[in-house]
This record gives sequence, C-alpha cells and structure tokens, in this order.
Amino acid sequence: MKTTFTFLLFLLISLSFSQNNIAVIPKPQNTLVGKGSFYINEKTYIQADENSFEANYLKEAIQIQTGLHLKITSKNNYKNIHLVLLEPKIANFNKEQYEIVVSDSEIIISAYTNQGLFYGIQTLLQMVPFEKKNEIAIPWIKISDAPKYAWRGMHFDVCRHYFPITFIKKYIDYLAHYKMNTFHWHLTEDQGWRIEIKKYPKLTEVGAWRNGSMIGRYDDQKIDDIKYGGFYTQEEIKEVVAYASKRHITIVPEIEMPGHSLAALAAYPELSCTGGPFEVGKKWGVFDDVYCPKEETFTFLENVLSEVLALFPSEYIHIGGDECPKTRWKSCAHCQKIIKEKGLKDEHELQSYFIQRIEKFVNSKGRKIIGWDEILEGGLAPNAAVMSWRGTEGGIAAAKQKHYVVMTPGSHCYFDHYQGKPENEPLAIGGFTSLEKVYNFNPMPKELILEEQKYILGAQANVWTEYILTPEQVEYMIMPRMSALAEVLWGTANPENFIDFKTRLQAQEIWLRNNNINYRKTSFTE
Ligand code: ACM
Ligand code: ZN
Repeated sequence: MKTTFTFLLFLLISLSFSQNNIAVIPKPQNTLVGKGSFYINEKTYIQADENSFEANYLKEAIQIQTGLHLKITSKNNYKNIHLVLLEPKIANFNKEQYEIVVSDSEIIISAYTNQGLFYGIQTLLQMVPFEKKNEIAIPWIKISDAPKYAWRGMHFDVCRHYFPITFIKKYIDYLAHYKMNTFHWHLTEDQGWRIEIKKYPKLTEVGAWRNGSMIGRYDDQKIDDIKYGGFYTQEEIKEVVAYASKRHITIVPEIEMPGHSLAALAAYPELSCTGGPFEVGKKWGVFDDVYCPKEETFTFLENVLSEVLALFPSEYIHIGGDECPKTRWKSCAHCQKIIKEKGLKDEHELQSYFIQRIEKFVNSKGRKIIGWDEILEGGLAPNAAVMSWRGTEGGIAAAKQKHYVVMTPGSHCYFDHYQGKPENEPLAIGGFTSLEKVYNFNPMPKELILEEQKYILGAQANVWTEYILTPEQVEYMIMPRMSALAEVLWGTANPENFIDFKTRLQAQEIWLRNNNINYRKTSFTE
C-alpha cells in the first residue's frame, strides 16, 4: 500500500517536472527538474547515523559554502536532508549508483552503499551556492545516476618532483569532487624513490635524493646542482590511504620495474647488470641501467612489494613495465644465461619472464598486476591488466586477448601536455591536449566487439611532473581538463554539445575560485 502511494506521489511529482539541465559535472544520467524549491536553513537536519562520515562531510561542506550550521540527527524530523542506505534487492547491484529526490518538504539521497551516498552528496553540493546566506533554495529535482566506467582515474608522478602530503590530500579531494575513484600514485622513478621501505632503508636515504635537476627545456641540457628530494613515510602513506578510502578512492601504487629504476640502483647497485656505481637521475628521459633479472633482484622486489601490499589494499598493484631499454641485458652474461636456460627468444621475452615472475608473486598474495602497454611485448602475463599509453592499440590488443584495460593514450589523457599554443603557456613537455580534445575522448575503441568491450575498465589522465614543479602548476595542468575527463568517464559526455559542457563549466569556476585552486583561466574564455 505504502509503495503504491509512493509510486503515485512520484508520478504526480514527475508530471510537474521537466527534463532540464543543472550545472553539475559530471552530468548525471537522468535529471528531472520541477518548479518549486526546498529551502535549507539552520532548522534543517541531516538525518543519518551521527557517526556517518558522509553526513559529517555534507554538514562541513554546507558550512564552508554557505556558513549554515546544520545538525545531524538519527531521528526522523520534518524538513530534513535524509541519507538513506537501501537494502540491495539483487546480487549484482551497482554500488556506485544513487538517487536524489528534492521536494518541498525534504531532500532524500538514497543509495545501496556509502559510496553511492557520497556521489549523491557531491551532486547536491554542486547545487549549493558559495555564498553566505540564511537560507538556500534547492530546486525540486529527481536525479537517478550511475557511472558508465568502473575505473575513473588520475595518475600523479611525485618522483620527477616531490609534492607534500597536504597537496596529495587536496589532489584526492579533487578526484572526490568529480566522483573519480582511482588514484594512481607513481612512487618510484629514475629521479627519485618516494616510499619508505623498512627492509631497505637506503631506498630513501640514498634513492630519494638527487644532486641536481634539469632546468628549462630538455634541449638546453642544463642541470642545476641543488640537492632535491623527499619521500613519504609509511605512517604518512597509511594516513593518505585512509583519507582516500573515506572518499571512496582506491590508491593504486606504482613500483616501477624493470626500467625507470635508477634511484633504486643508486641505493643497491648489486641489483643491476654492471654493479654500478650509479647516482639518482638528474636528467629526464630513459636510462640504460635497469634491474638485472637475477634471484637477488626478485627477492628484493618481493620484499619491497610485501611492504607495499601491506600499505595499499588495492586490487591492482602497478608494476610499471614501460620504457625498459634492453642494452644492458644484451651484454650481461647473467641475463644471457637466463635467456638460454629458460628457452627465451630474446630480451623482450626476458622482460616478459620478469613481469610474469612478479605477477606470480602478486597473485599469490591475492592481488593483480597492471602495467604499461610494453608488458604486451614478449607475451602478456596471464592475469595482467594493461594500461594503454602509446595510443589505444595496446589496449585493443589486450582486450582482444581478454585482459582488462585502462585507457590513457598520450593523445587525449596526458595532462602534462600543452593545453594551448606553447607560446602562451608555461613550459611543458610537448604535445597538445585541449579541454575540448579531452571532452572528445572515447575510452571505448570502435575496434572491439561487444564481448570484448567489457575488458575496458575505464581511463585515467596522467600527470608526469618533469616540467611541473609546484602544486599550483599541477592545478593549472589538471583544471579544468579533469572536469572534461570526469564527464567522459561517467558516460554522459556529448562531444556534439561541447557548448552545454562549457556552460555548466561556469559553475565549476566558482568552485575553483572558492577553493583557491590555480586553474587555467583561459579555458573559460577561449
Ligand atoms: C609513460 O608515459 N612512460 C608511461
Ligand atoms: Zn643482467
């Protein structure tokens, strides 16, 4: 009886609603907007469990945006914002979906999980103004919403340049705002090892510091002599993982191998083919000295990964795999001996052997590996997911082999690329990836048939920091391109209506300004 009544009420409300546009990014899947409003004032309660993170998050955000102090109550009061956790009726429910219904008497945000409620809250907060007020009006609305892609990510290289934990948390906040759920934390590189590993203290005593950095353009080949570096303690990492987890963001750590490992080799040169000595990289680019696939190296990497697995509960662990020159392996007696003993064809198969051994270890701990698309060369490890960066071809090949894929092609997803004419922009690595180009990105390649499409988990933007020295510059490179990517991944981007996106983007500018984010202003006027 009650459900019939609710249904009739909805029908009645729906009839007085119309399809409409609200300035929310990513645009929700289904939105109906009515003619009335619900008014939030200091008499409004948030009805939820008083210890609910989501309820407290909403309360604090409304206070920051409007100055209004709302109370949280577990009692069912009139004039409430209800956060309702639903009982899933089917086994394979979408844990990310949510619904918002605003009527003149209440706001109901409902979802099957706290993650769904969190996304509903993000949508609601985008309808709350940044203005000190005694009362704010939220239009009658009915939104039912869920993302298209499961992997909605942002990568961040903290090795070429180091960024403090306070900024890492801000970066996570930016993901949360755009309902993104994966933070790919690139923690080791030629130019710096950034994660404390208790068993190998030299990784950070030695590997976290370099005696100079490239300055200016790569072609100038200029290097300063300033000691540069930093690292995250395991305590700091635990704090960040917990911070992200509350915001329903999974951190996928990346420990690079077998290439991009000069900082580790500077600390432990015995893991190389030549024995060194080495210094932590000062120049950008690709280095010939990489891990030698000997038993000692595998023991080292398994011990490192054991500490990494204990810190990061993610399903996937990123093991790098990109840009590994085979120069040293070609002239190393040990490497050649393994090639012969294992019946490998060449050094590409040796790389494949390397990755497969690591995969076996990671799988034995109940986790999966993901690697850059070079891990396809010489044969893909049996359960590995592929991150397609040299275009989408690697991703297509992997999906056809029934391997999961994250798309991040340089053409559309490299946020270290220029976003305007280079002469008008701060120095960047190159390329050209405008806001509109990001908005035009389609993570699903046309080449895949229906059964293969399920292997495309989603996409992410990569933020490499050779030419990005400060948090302000990171913000400039990601904002507002991140909002375009978020909408692509939510599945509601319509490249034919870029104007509509640009119109809704105006509201994002208010959010950016109020959060003192150093966004690229030209993107709003050009
Ligand atoms: C990469 O950009 N080297 C993955
Ligand atoms: Zn070797």
